[in-house]
Amino acid sequence: MLIRRPSDILPSEINSESEFNARRDWLKQAAGLGLIAGLPALAACDAQAQGAKLMGVKPNASYAMPAGEKLNKFDELKGYCNYYEFGTDKTDPPVMAKSLKTRPWTISVEGEVLKPQVFDIDALYKLAPLEERIYRFRCVEAWSMVIPWVGFPLSELIKQVQPKGNAKYVEFVTLADKAQMPGLRSGVLDWPYTEGLRMDEAMHPLTLLTLGAFGEMLPNQNGAPVRMIVPWKYGFKGGKSIVKIRFVEKEPRTAWVKAGPGEYGFYSNVNPTVDHARWSQASERRLGEFSKRKTLMYNGYGDQVASMYAGMDLAKFF
Ligand code: MTE
Repeated sequence: MLIRRPSDILPSEINSESEFNARRDWLKQAAGLGLIAGLPALAACDAQAQGAKLMGVKPNASYAMPAGEKLNKFDELKGYCNYYEFGTDKTDPPVMAKSLKTRPWTISVEGEVLKPQVFDIDALYKLAPLEERIYRFRCVEAWSMVIPWVGFPLSELIKQVQPKGNAKYVEFVTLADKAQMPGLRSGVLDWPYTEGLRMDEAMHPLTLLTLGAFGEMLPNQNGAPVRMIVPWKYGFKGGKSIVKIRFVEKEPRTAWVKAGPGEYGFYSNVNPTVDHARWSQASERRLGEFSKRKTLMYNGYGDQVASMYAGMDLAKFF
C-alpha cells in the first residue's frame, strides 16, 4: 500500500458533521416518541441514488462515541479513500467510482454451509435491524478516522446459512469488473480483492456487515453497496463491494497476503508493537489532526477481542 504525505490529505472544507448530529438527535427523539417504529427498514425509493438516507436506523448505545473521541467529517471519509479497483491515489476513487453500478446486486453466500443462499442487496437491508455504530477505523498506512457506520452484525447473515462444522474461515470476494473498474488493468493486486476472517472473528459482535455511513447508503468510493468493517483490524480487512462470502476449511490467501506476505498478514490486528516491514505502527494520524497520536492495541477494542488471540505469538501471526 502506498504511504502518503500529510499534504496529500484533503482539507475538509464542508462541515457535514453538524448536519449529521442534528439528524441523529432527531432520530433519537423520534424513536423515543415511537414515531419511526412503523417505517419500513428502507424507505429510500431510488435505491441506486448515492446519498440516499437509510431509514429506521437505530443508534446502538453499546457502540456510541468512544471516550475522548470525536467524529470525522463525512467529507473526509468520502474524499480520502483506498479502493484500488478505481486507482491507487486516495483521491481517485471519489471520482472514478462515480459510475459503479450497484443495482442489480447480489451476494452469494456459499461453501461449507447447510443452506447456501444468494441474497439480493435490497433483501439484505431487511435481514436484520440496521444499527448505527461509531467505530475507530485505522488504516495500515497509519492514518485513522472515527466513523458512524450503519449495518448489522455479520453473525446475523451467518446464522441464515448454517455453517457446517468444518467451516473454519470465511472468505470475502469483492467485485472485479473490468468494464467498470479501470484499476483492474494494473497488476497491483491479484484481482478480485479478497479478504478473510477466522470463524470466531466473523461471528464476533463487533464485526459489521456494513451498508451505510453517516446515516446514508455507502458512497460508491467507500464500498457500496456492502462492505465489511472489522474495527480491531487494519482497514484493508474491510473488503468493499462484496459479491461472494465463502465458508472454507483452510485459511484463505487474501489479496494483500498474496501481494506481500512479509508485509501483510492474515490476522492484521491493529498492533502498535508489531511494525509493518517498512514503517512503524506505534502511532497514527487522525484525519483532520496535525500531530500524531499513539495507536491503541486492537485499536482500543482489546477488552472485547483480546481473548480470541490468547496464547498466540502475535509477532508470528501478525
Ligand atoms: N476493498 C477493495 N475491494 N479494494 C480496495 O482497494 N482497500 C482497503 C479496504 N477495502 C480496498 C478495499 C483498504 S487498504 C482500506 S484502508 C479501506 O478499504 C479503506 O476504506 P475507506 O476508503 O472507506 O476509508
